[in-house]
Amino acid sequence: MTQPLDELFDAARKAQGQAYAPYSRFRVGAAIRGASGRIHAGCNVENAAYPVGTCAEAGALAAMLLAGDRAVAEILVFAEGPELCTPCGACRQRLREFGAATMAIHVAGPEGVRARFTLAELLPHAFGPDNLS
Ligand code: THU
Repeated sequence: MTQPLDELFDAARKAQGQAYAPYSRFRVGAAIRGASGRIHAGCNVENAAYPVGTCAEAGALAAMLLAGDRAVAEILVFAEGPELCTPCGACRQRLREFGAATMAIHVAGPEGVRARFTLAELLPHAFGPDNLS
């Protein structure tokens, strides 16, 4: 992807500020650039019934679909802390549904982008919609 990441980074950072994470205190924001070029953001939303909580990536995907985009061009995940906040296993599978194996997944912290992966690197040999066609 040749487009600058500033817009995605700013959207993910802003979304992180809206996160509801009173239990883990680990706030995450995600921003997707859809196939249209528009940006869709989401944050994690936790719940007193812990497993019911949702990840930032899931929120961003829902926002993308609601806005009419049907494919992810790239995604940036923003979190604090020293470790890379790569998408969890379930969210890798969620991303597989709406993007190519070559999709870029940027992992960022407050200082900027820390790493870049493709979806295929994070979810090799994925099961996806093609398996059912
Ligand atoms: N979380 C995300 O929202 N995205 C990730 O990529 C990793 C983890 C959330 C889930 C939970 O609310 C908190 O971070 C701690 O796991």
